[in-house]
Amino acid sequence: MTATDKDTAGEAGAVRITFVLNDGTRRSVTGRPCQSLMQLAKSNGIPGIEGDCGGNCVCGTCLVSHLSDLPLPPVQTVESEMLVFLASGDASARLACQIPVDERFDGLVVKVAGLI
Ligand code: FES
Repeated sequence: MTATDKDTAGEAGAVRITFVLNDGTRRSVTGRPCQSLMQLAKSNGIPGIEGDCGGNCVCGTCLVSHLSDLPLPPVQTVESEMLVFLASGDASARLACQIPVDERFDGLVVKVAGLI
């Protein structure tokens, strides 16, 4: 492995996520398992992800649209009720606080709704 290969390979266990912002710019960040997509966004200063309820699925300030083909965890009842209220009819809508950052989602692309 060359120094360049090592630089681009990333850290073991790191998960790369791309956020598409409201102005169309893309911000790719790297996270580690054991945090949610909302926490990853906040720790990297992604605009439009507020996470006001701390991930308790009651504020809707972490709304995103799923743009990639990677299958996400199923929507649970509480998230489903929030999504009906926030994004009725948008099958790609998810709450970032309900999506874990783990290896299954390396390469995930989401668009930030930025409702607030
Ligand atoms: S952080 Fe409040 S619903 Fe996700």
